[in-house]
Amino acid sequence: MGGRTDIVLIGGCGHVGLPLGLAFADRGLNVVLYDVDSRGVDLVNRGELPAHEPGALDVLKRVVGKSLTATTDPTVISRATNVCVVVGTPLGEHLSPDPQAVPRSLEEIGDYFRDGQLLILRSTVYPGVTAQVERLFARLGLAVDIAFCPERIAEGRAMTELYELPQIVSARTPSAIERATRLFHTLTPTTVPLTPEEAELAKLFTNVWRYIKFAASNQLYMIANDFGVDYERVRVAIGIDYPRAADIAAAGFAAGPCLLKDTMQLAAFDNNNFSLGHASMMINEGLPQYLISRLEKRYHLEFLTVGILGMAFKAESDDVRSSLSYKLKRILSFKASEVLCTDPYVSCDEDLLPLDEVIERSDLLVIAAPHAPYHDLDTSKPIVDIWNIVGRGVRV
Ligand SMILES: NC(=O)c1ccc[n+]([C@@H]2O[C@H](COP(=O)([O-])OP(=O)(O)OC[C@H]3O[C@@H](n4cnc5c(N)ncnc54)[C@H](O)[C@@H]3O)[C@@H](O)[C@H]2O)c1
Repeated sequence: MGGRTDIVLIGGCGHVGLPLGLAFADRGLNVVLYDVDSRGVDLVNRGELPAHEPGALDVLKRVVGKSLTATTDPTVISRATNVCVVVGTPLGEHLSPDPQAVPRSLEEIGDYFRDGQLLILRSTVYPGVTAQVERLFARLGLAVDIAFCPERIAEGRAMTELYELPQIVSARTPSAIERATRLFHTLTPTTVPLTPEEAELAKLFTNVWRYIKFAASNQLYMIANDFGVDYERVRVAIGIDYPRAADIAAAGFAAGPCLLKDTMQLAAFDNNNFSLGHASMMINEGLPQYLISRLEKRYHLEFLTVGILGMAFKAESDDVRSSLSYKLKRILSFKASEVLCTDPYVSCDEDLLPLDEVIERSDLLVIAAPHAPYHDLDTSKPIVDIWNIVGRGVRV
């Protein structure tokens, strides 16, 4: 690659950063991914994906070493016209957000910025972080345009949604709005302008809304189940030719790195008055315990080997971050004779066993992530199937 760098992505080898970098590179921009994770950087430069993302590998192979490279060297930031921050913003201890995560990572590399650059914040942030970053750059004496343009893709759909979803673009100055809009128009035709504070809430509301809807479904599932009624039959029935109920979700584990985290960010921001958010957390995070307490009414778990199918936080994913499958495993490890786990996509867990072995050795199977290979399981063993994907799961 020559000297011109259109965009440097800070945190560029992560789940969000890499697809975004690939999309920009595929549209002809010169992209550099800066990341502190040397393993991720090495993999990307070898043309391998650090995490499963459909459609990403083909693009990577096309652009790597040409319009896209990865590095652990922050000096690349100085050469960029645009810089985009997509570092993680996970919860800390006690479910508390870290509002300094993005400002801190920028301050550490503040020396490499220069006047005239456009800085795009893309991580999901605690409200007020954009203003904090603006103050940071004023303190550093840097004339940098600052925009907050949240990422709204879902993992597993990044390489299509980056080109299809409208992009929320927010900034305090017309110049920053205009530059960020032009940049994202290389990916998607529709941009939606907001103020930074509106955009910060817009991103949190997006995830929180989804989390609350899953909690509503999970609570209705528990009510139906406790009444001896099949929730899924009720859900399907009320959706038939009735659009007002068409969006009632199936029951299932609602987890992963974003939904709970962003609900807790909003709760902390709202001085812990966000009772609907906290109630949703209790319902969604309580589902593994609910399942096990129901299982205990039906089985003597202490004599049984239980197999957990699917350790990723959602279907067709290899991402185990905040997966409720592991909560299920922890509780079952205390209650059951033995717990065996399997997942066709997860490679970071050495304790996982092949599916055949788990089926063979288990007395009872629990589908914890509804991966496609589980839709036609070939076994007569009892299957606990809250997702209702096999159509003959045992009711608990
Ligand atoms: N995962 C999703 O589906 C999704 C969707 C929309 C938005 N988001 C948001 O995007 C952000 C990133 O999420 P993610 O899932 O990609 O996280 P991730 O942990 O997969 O990626 C973050 C990357 O940043 C790197 N990093 C951390 N600190 C750094 C630093 N100081 N300098 C350079 N690199 C650094 C890490 O090594 C990692 O590769 C979060 O705020 C998240 O809430 C995630």
